[in-house]
Amino acid sequence: MEAWWRNSIGYIIYPAAYKDANGDGIGDLKGIIEKLDYLHELGIDLLWICPIFASPMKDNGYDVSDYLHVNPLFGSDEDLLTLLREAHLRGIRVLLDFAMNHTSDQHEWFVKAKEDPSSEERSYYIIKKGRRDEKGNLLPPNNWGSFFSTSAWERMPGSEDEFYLHVFAPSMPDTDWSNPKLRERYYQIARHYVDLGVDGFRMDAISHLAKNPTFEDSPLQGGKGGYVLDPSEFSNRPELLGYLKEFREKGVNENTLLVGEVGGCVQPAQARLFSERGRGPINLVFNFDTVWNNGAYGSIDKKDEEIKTDVISLKNNFMRWYENAATCDLPLYWCNHDHPRVLSQYGSVNYRAESAKMLVTTLLFLYGTPFIYQGDEIGMSNVTYDKVEDFLNDEANVDALKSMRSEGRDEETILRFWRRTNRINARTPMQWDKTSYAGFSKVAPKVKVNDNYKEGVNVQEQMEDPYSILNYFQYAISFRKNAIYNDIVNNGRLEIVDYNHPDVFAYLHRGSSTIMVISNFRPYQTYFTFNYEIGDIVLHNYDGVLLKDHVFTLRPFECYLLKIR
Ligand code: BGC
Repeated sequence: MEAWWRNSIGYIIYPAAYKDANGDGIGDLKGIIEKLDYLHELGIDLLWICPIFASPMKDNGYDVSDYLHVNPLFGSDEDLLTLLREAHLRGIRVLLDFAMNHTSDQHEWFVKAKEDPSSEERSYYIIKKGRRDEKGNLLPPNNWGSFFSTSAWERMPGSEDEFYLHVFAPSMPDTDWSNPKLRERYYQIARHYVDLGVDGFRMDAISHLAKNPTFEDSPLQGGKGGYVLDPSEFSNRPELLGYLKEFREKGVNENTLLVGEVGGCVQPAQARLFSERGRGPINLVFNFDTVWNNGAYGSIDKKDEEIKTDVISLKNNFMRWYENAATCDLPLYWCNHDHPRVLSQYGSVNYRAESAKMLVTTLLFLYGTPFIYQGDEIGMSNVTYDKVEDFLNDEANVDALKSMRSEGRDEETILRFWRRTNRINARTPMQWDKTSYAGFSKVAPKVKVNDNYKEGVNVQEQMEDPYSILNYFQYAISFRKNAIYNDIVNNGRLEIVDYNHPDVFAYLHRGSSTIMVISNFRPYQTYFTFNYEIGDIVLHNYDGVLLKDHVFTLRPFECYLLKIR
C-alpha cells in the first residue's frame, strides 16, 4: 500500500503567529483548533506544527525546557489532545516539531548536569575541558564556531575549566547522541507522543546529531576571533544514519511520518540512505536547495535590483533531486519559518495574486508531498519594518546585528538585507480578516502585523472573492489531491521542457495522461515555444489564452496547468 503522505497536502503552522484564542497577543493551540475547518476546506490533510513544548522561547520554542508538556503560552496538554482529536475527525494528520539536537539550558537535564558533575544528566551533554594559551588563559576546547554566535563552546557553569558545546545559541546546549542513555530518553518522549496519537515528527536540525568524535580543530581558517563555522564537523556525519535507524525502531511506528531537516549539506546520494522508500529510517528529507535561488542569501552588499530568481538553477535543483532521489519520497516546499516569504523572493508584491498563484501551481505538480507555509495561500509577503531593532525578537538576529555593525555596515544596509532575507518575515501574525490586528488577536500582538491585511491580504475577504489567491489555492489543491492527478504526479515521469529558458519554468509528467505546467517567473512578458496540443486548460491565472503559431505570450507571472493530448 502506498504511504499515506504521498497523497497528503502539508501545511506548516508557526503557532505563535497563527491564531490567538485566549487574547494574550500570542497564537495558541486553541487558535489552531478554531481554524481546523478552514484548513480542511482548503484541502490540507497534514499539519506540521512548529515547536509547542515548554520553552523559555529564546529560540521561539526550538529551545525546549520540558518535552513532556505543552508550553503554557500555547495552552495545555489537554489542548493538544483536543487538537489531535479534532484534526483526526477532519482527516488531518499532525506532525510535531521535535528539536533533539539540543535542549534549553533551562531543561531539567541541564540544570542537573550543572548542579551535579556526577549526575547521569551530565553525560547527556557534550562537555570538554578547555585549552590554555601560552599565558595560561583558558580557551574553548577547539576552534569550532556556532550558527548563532562565535565560539560553539560556552563555559560550563560551576566548573573551573570545562565548556559545553552549542552549535546554535549558548542557551541551547547540544545533547550527546553518542550516549545510548540520552538516545533512550528521546525515544521514550517520541513514544509518549505516538501513544497520544501524533502522526509524525518534523525532526529539527537532525543533520547535527552526530559530531566529529575527535573534537579536533577544524582545518578551516578565519572566522571571528578564530572560530570558524565549519558545518562538516557536526553535520551529516557517518554515525547519524545509525541514530536515525534506532529512532525509527525504538521511538516510533512504521506508519509514523518522519521528516528530517538536514540543512543544505545533504545531497541526493546521502538522502537515499536516509529515506529510500521501504529502507531508509526516515521518510522525507528537507534540504534547502530550492530555497535561495535568487542570490539573496548572504546578499548584504547587493542592491535590491540585483536579486533575481535564477530559474535555470531552480529547475536544476528540483531535477537533481528528482533524478537522483526518486527512489525516495520527497517534500516540496518554497519556504518555512526560517526563510523570507516566497512571494517576496520568487514572486512580486506588485503582482501579488498572479505570482502567488503561479508559485503554488509550479510547486504542487512537481514530484513529492507539498508543504504550504501558513499565509502563502493569501499571498502574505515580507514585512517592511523601518528599524533594525524591530527584528530583534529573534535570538539569532541579536548576534548577527552586532557582527554586521562591527564589520562597519550601516543601519540602512542591514535593514535592506534583513527586509529581504530575515526569517522574521515569515513569523508575522496570520491575517484572518480586516478588523484590527488582522483578526489574529483581540489585543496588540507581540509581533507587529503586516499592514497589507487592510489591502485584501486576509482570509475573510479572499473567501468572498471567487478570483482570490485563496480560492485559487483551494481549487489547485483539489486537483493535486484528485486520485488521477496524484497518480500522475507521483508515478508519471517528470521532464523539464525547454531547460535553458531563463524565465519560464515548464515541466510535464507522462502518466495515465500527460499534464504540463508552464510558469513565467518574471514580472514582465515572456515567450514560450509550445509544440504540443492542448487537451484541457485545468488551471490558469489570467483571462484569455495568448497562443499563436506555437508560441505562448506569457504575461507577468502567468501560469498554466494543461492536459496535453
Ligand atoms: C529550526 C530553526 C531553529 C534551529 C535551532 C532549525 O533548523 O528550523 O528555527 O532556530 O533549528 O533549533
